[in-house]
Amino acid sequence: MRLLQTFAQNAPRNRRIISTAFSTLSHNINSNATSFGIAFDIDGVLLHGSTPIGGSPKALTRLYTDSGDLRIPYVFLTNGGGVPEPKRATELTKLLGVNIKPLQVILGHTPFKQLVKRFGNQLVIALGKGEPAAVMSEYGFKNVLSMDEYASCFENIDPLEQYKKWKIDDHKSGSSILTSLRNDPFSHQVQAVFILSDPVDWSRDIQVLCDILRTGGRPGKETSHQPPLYFASDDLAYQALFPSERLGMGAFRIALEAIFNSIHPNNLEYTSYGKPQPLVFKNAETVLKQIALTARASSQRDGEDCSFKRLYMIGDNPYVDIKGARQAGHPWFSILTRTGVFKGKQNHVEHPADMVVDTVEEAVDFILRKESIS
Ligand code: G3P
Ligand code: MG
Repeated sequence: MRLLQTFAQNAPRNRRIISTAFSTLSHNINSNATSFGIAFDIDGVLLHGSTPIGGSPKALTRLYTDSGDLRIPYVFLTNGGGVPEPKRATELTKLLGVNIKPLQVILGHTPFKQLVKRFGNQLVIALGKGEPAAVMSEYGFKNVLSMDEYASCFENIDPLEQYKKWKIDDHKSGSSILTSLRNDPFSHQVQAVFILSDPVDWSRDIQVLCDILRTGGRPGKETSHQPPLYFASDDLAYQALFPSERLGMGAFRIALEAIFNSIHPNNLEYTSYGKPQPLVFKNAETVLKQIALTARASSQRDGEDCSFKRLYMIGDNPYVDIKGARQAGHPWFSILTRTGVFKGKQNHVEHPADMVVDTVEEAVDFILRKESIS
């Protein structure tokens, strides 16, 4: 919790960078438009895998002027990740057809940046699909290895490896810590483990994580104190291209925890970030304010309080997006789409949204109408 707080508090420091990033946004964001902002969930709202859904490109286009300048402040607030924010911004720009800036992209693992102060020089392991170690390096972690790299330092650590047909990408960083671990796998103890995105090889990952976590970061050695373990989110399921939901990071956490607790005297200790944590919504609000303020003419900015009257969270997962927005309270207003995890006809019973719509396009139409924006 304390770390998430720091994340939200530090956002104003980024003002200069944000200002540069949005320097092309002219002065189209006026006071009316900035009385509200929007946070879009990605999976199950804008995309299924890499396929746009629910009229998402058209819906986002409505947030820009005819000349392509942003007129409504908005961010992507996803529990997904695995690539650095600038790269995801480029991917989303291509997929959705609007000009998306890195600062608009808040991923599940974005708050891990705040842990650089604590682990920046220590050996940490990054795990998940995509480029988890590259993400952590970009955040400033100097001695980060991917799970693929780390596991490759131990002979026979995965007894099932010979049956796995895929090629393990284990030679990326070429860092000196990797070289010394290859010479002596016990030369450095793992000080923390970060799960950034959905793990790919559950059997190898659970095996090696148990090894690291039971031994104080020295697989194969005697039992010792568990190093800290961080998850970017705790989603049990998410919606991709397959008709029913897929198991997410929360499912992996349950599997790891059940196994670890069965083989170790102490229960697994961990911290999960991401929605529905209230401070994730607080940080999104801070980022939206920065986007709105820096894009507004300085004459309009002077002495002006940039508090939002309303912030809309458009999500597909009642347990994550809607629960989170409801817990965050004013000024959040939750809109639940039927394009993802939620497929019900009425509202969700346990976590009812302020509004239920079929698609994100319908959600944006509703917002612009409600805010009297043509
Ligand atoms: O793996 C991604 C998933 O857990 C959630 O993504 O965009 O629905 O928050 P999103
Ligand atoms: Mg979603």
